[in-house]
Amino acid sequence: MTDRRNFIKSTGILAGGLWLAPSLLQAKQGVAASDRIRVALIGCNNMGFGILRHHLALPEVDCVALCDIDQNVLDRRIAEVETATGKKPERYTDFRLLLERSDVDAVIIGTPDHWHCLIAVAACQAGKDVYVEKPMANTIGECELMVNAKNQYDRIMQVGQQQRSGQAFIEARELVKSGYIGKVRKVNIWSNFNYGLGNLIQPTTPIPEGVDYDFWLGPAPSRSFNPNRFHGSWRHFWDYGGGLMSDWGVHLLDMAIWVEENPAVPSRVLTYAANVNKENRDRDTFDTMNVLYPKKDFLINYDMNGGLQTGPYGKPYGIGYVGEKGTLVVNRGGYEIYPEWDPEAKAPKIEAKKLEGMTDSHNLHVANFVECIKNRNQPICPPEAGRIAALHAHIPNIAARIGAEELLWDEAKREFTGNAAANELIWPSYRTPWTLPKITS
Ligand SMILES: NC(=O)c1ccc[n+]([C@@H]2O[C@H](COP(=O)([O-])OP(=O)(O)OC[C@H]3O[C@@H](n4cnc5c(N)ncnc54)[C@H](O)[C@@H]3O)[C@@H](O)[C@H]2O)c1
Repeated sequence: MTDRRNFIKSTGILAGGLWLAPSLLQAKQGVAASDRIRVALIGCNNMGFGILRHHLALPEVDCVALCDIDQNVLDRRIAEVETATGKKPERYTDFRLLLERSDVDAVIIGTPDHWHCLIAVAACQAGKDVYVEKPMANTIGECELMVNAKNQYDRIMQVGQQQRSGQAFIEARELVKSGYIGKVRKVNIWSNFNYGLGNLIQPTTPIPEGVDYDFWLGPAPSRSFNPNRFHGSWRHFWDYGGGLMSDWGVHLLDMAIWVEENPAVPSRVLTYAANVNKENRDRDTFDTMNVLYPKKDFLINYDMNGGLQTGPYGKPYGIGYVGEKGTLVVNRGGYEIYPEWDPEAKAPKIEAKKLEGMTDSHNLHVANFVECIKNRNQPICPPEAGRIAALHAHIPNIAARIGAEELLWDEAKREFTGNAAANELIWPSYRTPWTLPKITS
């Protein structure tokens, strides 16, 4: 643990203001051409660009190209990279042309979820390593294709579940797995976020200048342009995302799965979903979900409320590992252990512990990816792990969509048992000319 803390301090890549400080630019110049990692970003508006910044904060990484279907975003982000690095990245609106470049070692995929699979598989086929944002895909079937593509084309693929690189979560996992809080009987997860309601309904508008909306939709059904179904707020519509359940659920459920003895896709999921606040709101997804995942080791109990922003322990979101000797509560801000009281000994069963003031973990997750590009080891969140986490979100979303309280997943057959309606939603139906990628040997 101490080594890791020292690493964070000594690299200085935690400090956002340090992105491309003069000393860093100088360090970049000192890296031999043969040791440089050349990355390109596809989907530049928000998270993807944040991830690119963390790549550029590493001396050995250069950005050679940016791609987006929105020229306004592209212009802005190209200018930002040029200002920061002194080098203007090449501009692309079609990722397929970008992937033809032989000087791109890795791509970052920061598009909405409905594009992740197509772009990630094409990138693997083009011999690129891939950092793909979470959830790794918008359907169960696409997750599997991405795992297969990574293996078939022997690529490094990191999924953006960056908690796995976060100090608080790593220490929390070590404490739980070491038995410090005793046998864990339950993992309680809660995520309460106002944005989970979606935007207010608004009329369709002309497509903004510089936007290729048909390309943005890609494999999703054709639609008139509505700002609600575009940058940022697309996540509330099944065609492109999975709402708060997949947005935050994937992150937090991943941390519950991470302490399991043998992490696996849940074989049984019980879902209660409702829309408490839908009036005037433009969304397909649910604002209220409670999901139980009975596992071999413990029960995962997920509680989600879009439109609320307070929660247990004074935190809008978090994870509580409930052990016989105490409960460990963790989120991105740190962790705290609440000991159980021993009535016979008249003392707490364990010593309370606390870690506060944690900062960003994206930088360490990116550093882990870049390290793996160089040494060809598995990153901390390979697509196999991304798939397990994504399915923990997709299965209850499917249950909610078809009104099923219980779904049984058969991992060997890769299908739901006895539920044809659920099986219909395992794979997406791509709009022509897009087709599900084929993984060929
Ligand atoms: N790891 C995290 O903590 C975290 C946080 C936020 C978002 N995310 C994930 O990051 C991804 C992006 O989310 P966001 O909030 O940045 O979305 P956003 O809508 O702000 O940005 C997406 C960008 O992708 C572009 N795009 C869409 N289709 C494209 C295509 N075919 N080719 C090139 N560009 C295309 C859009 O024009 C837009 O600029 C999502 O998968 C989301 O779940 C992860």
